[in-house]
Amino acid sequence: MEKTQTASDRAEATDLEQLIAVRLSRRDLLKAALAGMATALGSPARSAERATGSTLTFSEIAHGLDATHHVPPGYSAQLVLRWGDPLFRDAPKFVPGKPDAAAQEKQFGYNNDFLAFMPLPRGTASANNGLLCSNHEYCSTQLMWPESPARSYQRKVTVEHCAYEMAAHGFSIAEVRQEDGKWRVVTDSSYNRRISTRSTRIRVGGPAAGHRRMRTGADREGLLIIGTLNNCAGGETPWGTVLTCEENIHGYFSGNALEHREAAALKRYGFGRRPWYEWSRYYARFDFDQEPNEPNRFGWVVEIDPYDPESMPVKRTALGRFKHEGATTALSHDARVVVYMGDDERFEYLYKFVTAGKFQPNDLAANRNLLDHGTLYVARFEAQGKMRWLPLTHGKDPLTLANGFASQADVVIEARRAADLMGGTSMDRPEDVQTNPATGRVYVVLTNNSRRKPDQVNPANPRAGNHWGHIIELVPPRVDGAPDHSATECAWEFFLVAGDPADAQQSARYAGPVGANGWLACPDNVAFDPRGRIWIATDGQTATAGIADSLYGADTSGPGRGITRLFFNAPRGAEVCGPCFTPNGKTLFVAVQHPGSEPGSTYDQPSTRWPDFKDDMPPRPAVLAITKNSGGEIGS
Ligand code: FEO
Ligand code: CA
Ligand code: CA
Ligand code: CA
Repeated sequence: MEKTQTASDRAEATDLEQLIAVRLSRRDLLKAALAGMATALGSPARSAERATGSTLTFSEIAHGLDATHHVPPGYSAQLVLRWGDPLFRDAPKFVPGKPDAAAQEKQFGYNNDFLAFMPLPRGTASANNGLLCSNHEYCSTQLMWPESPARSYQRKVTVEHCAYEMAAHGFSIAEVRQEDGKWRVVTDSSYNRRISTRSTRIRVGGPAAGHRRMRTGADREGLLIIGTLNNCAGGETPWGTVLTCEENIHGYFSGNALEHREAAALKRYGFGRRPWYEWSRYYARFDFDQEPNEPNRFGWVVEIDPYDPESMPVKRTALGRFKHEGATTALSHDARVVVYMGDDERFEYLYKFVTAGKFQPNDLAANRNLLDHGTLYVARFEAQGKMRWLPLTHGKDPLTLANGFASQADVVIEARRAADLMGGTSMDRPEDVQTNPATGRVYVVLTNNSRRKPDQVNPANPRAGNHWGHIIELVPPRVDGAPDHSATECAWEFFLVAGDPADAQQSARYAGPVGANGWLACPDNVAFDPRGRIWIATDGQTATAGIADSLYGADTSGPGRGITRLFFNAPRGAEVCGPCFTPNGKTLFVAVQHPGSEPGSTYDQPSTRWPDFKDDMPPRPAVLAITKNSGGEIGS
């Protein structure tokens, strides 16, 4: 959904070359010059063989597009979990094409996205035993049901199909253990758990809890919601819980948005178009003509304690309602916790939440509801590498009753409109936002925005028709040597401006000479290894560049800064999600989402049958564990 630019956005837009050249770190240009390198800024030279000064020593693989995945020589990728794999000893055997919802709730769900490795025991840095937590974002129904390409799906779908799809959404927790170099799932672990859209009860916490706009026929108090929806990325908290984020919530609901009592709010969040699923046919709550408040109950960040299988997940409404990509935490200098969040839609905003209370390392109970109290902010980027965080706090002009905000509940339920009024900077699809633990710098990953017009550019989103995306680096001020993530002003620069530097039309910019296979497009989710190097997963390289989606590594400092190198290719039709390292940096988990999801690819005739490659098995989303055959650190 497009929204209009603010006048000040336009006023601050300046020339692209000038913007990028100024901000893409003079410091790094100098370093590159000292190292005797041509830089991609002056001459977009490409040479895979050229010495780059990168600390990454793996042999870069080649861009490509085929039926399977690829890792560099000397590395192996093991299959850990596939859609339908058992999480419990009594889980029924996976039967493709059979809509058995009860079975699915005992098996790994569909379209794994975010991953977290939570060491066992809790609080340790164990690297060989832990809880692998995974989101299940959505269902590729054309690859899930026989004879059901998308166009006939609506006609054929039954209540059993809908129940199964709801069961396939949500979240999985699986204990995993590495023995003799091999990762396996512990199917009799008491930690294993499935959380689904169909049946899991979730508490509401924070300012919207109990609010009248959260109440429904099934939940007259507005405190208890069945299920979490379209869980894309997420994060971990310092106290060992996991955050899972509800993203494209509009695609599940039917109803007449124009007649709705909150018509403008529904429109702002994209409700009212034909839904992607037929759930509302059998489940009235997904029809907002019948249950007008149900849409307000999705679009939140959900906190889950993976170490307590009996615990009830909580929707943390203080963090705002929007199309959340992820929610990653950083500990500020004064022990307050900051959550960085992107709203993944074209022209939407970057947010952060700062807790009122402080993290107590030795007091689990004290941290339990830390995310219910604090301040939500939206980002405003200015020229000259400065940005400000604007509070979304009820009562402060313009977030008052005069503008329809009667309380903080209204502000968080309509966080997008609050951010509009405060003058946030409209971004090119804010996806992951993650702090590099080694430096405290924050990386804002912007996937793309082909719809940005020349008169809509701004300092932080300088390319019109941005098909390739970019990554911004925030540099928080430091207090007593520690990053102050709570600060309301911050410095920023471009980390990279993605695309192929050989094509001048793309205006791609890297801090050093990326090779012919090292450039990337559509950066999405990122992770940091224990050395502070960034690993960048992409979503959209096939449509943009005709190559598979991939994972790239790069240094974040030194002569190799920003020089991305290609490490992993996904099978065709798939996106690379959830990169995550064990604490020792020796295993890299990646989630391969929607393999075979391409135009014309169906259950009966898929473009790949990854990872099983059996004639009677459709392609299956799956998690891989990548290790170095010698047992060393990934990338070293
Ligand atoms: Fe679900 Fe923003 O990708
Ligand atoms: Ca995804
Ligand atoms: Ca994503
Ligand atoms: Ca994405």
